[in-house]
Amino acid sequence: MATTTPIVPKHVAIVMDGNGRWATKRYLPRIAGHKQGVDALNRCVRACLERGIAVLTVFAFSSENWNRPSDEVSGLMDLLLLSLSREVSSLSGNGVRLHFVGDRLRFSEKVQRGLMQAERSTAANQRLVLNICFNYGGRWDIAQAAQKLASQGEAITELSLDRAMALAHVPDPDLLIRTGGELRISNFLLWQLAYSELYFSDKLWPEFDDSELDAAIAVFRTRERRFGQTSAQVAGPDNNPNSKVA
Ligand code: FPP
Repeated sequence: MATTTPIVPKHVAIVMDGNGRWATKRYLPRIAGHKQGVDALNRCVRACLERGIAVLTVFAFSSENWNRPSDEVSGLMDLLLLSLSREVSSLSGNGVRLHFVGDRLRFSEKVQRGLMQAERSTAANQRLVLNICFNYGGRWDIAQAAQKLASQGEAITELSLDRAMALAHVPDPDLLIRTGGELRISNFLLWQLAYSELYFSDKLWPEFDDSELDAAIAVFRTRERRFGQTSAQVAGPDNNPNSKVA
């Protein structure tokens, strides 16, 4: 079987699920699991840098997470600001460019300012793009892109929508990882995951480590990516119809 899959995926997307269960198992409040989740995210960013992955996109807060208990929601907002104040300079030193993806209008001014400053201060970095999806939903993204085009009087086509989506600055994910044992997409990157390879892990997100990332990459390497073509076609020249490039 012809294998055209590159050694390392260019863009990895992750649903970081399982923080709450990690905490509950230890008789800790759920927010303790989210704090461990930040540590796991830091480790994962380092591992992506070491492996030459160019884009990492993570689901940190979904449009539906507002429905959680208010102390968990405010705890996640505080954790976001605390993580920014602690991590941005070291992320920047490592060449990481931060993007926050999602609807910012519902955030406090303080949070909105924090996100903007983090993006500005890392804007020149080129080693790794880290997209943090916060108040994000795949359906929201498709709707906001369509609305943008409609308000500009532009025709809605696959290409114009693609360019109006919140992740237009990066190619589509090659590999989606979901931790926590659930087998669903949960309104993440509905448009962009059309041809991504999927990897589901039973590990809870705070337990995610380099070896689990390597296991996902190893499985990714075994996949033949056909993008709707036949095996014979992908074995030939011009074998990547997914040509959207950052
Ligand atoms: C899903 O686990 C995880 C979340 C809703 C939050 C993810 C957040 C982090 C990893 C850390 C925060 C990141 C930043 C940048 C502040 P869950 O709570 O649904 O876990 P469960 O399924 O075990 O209940």
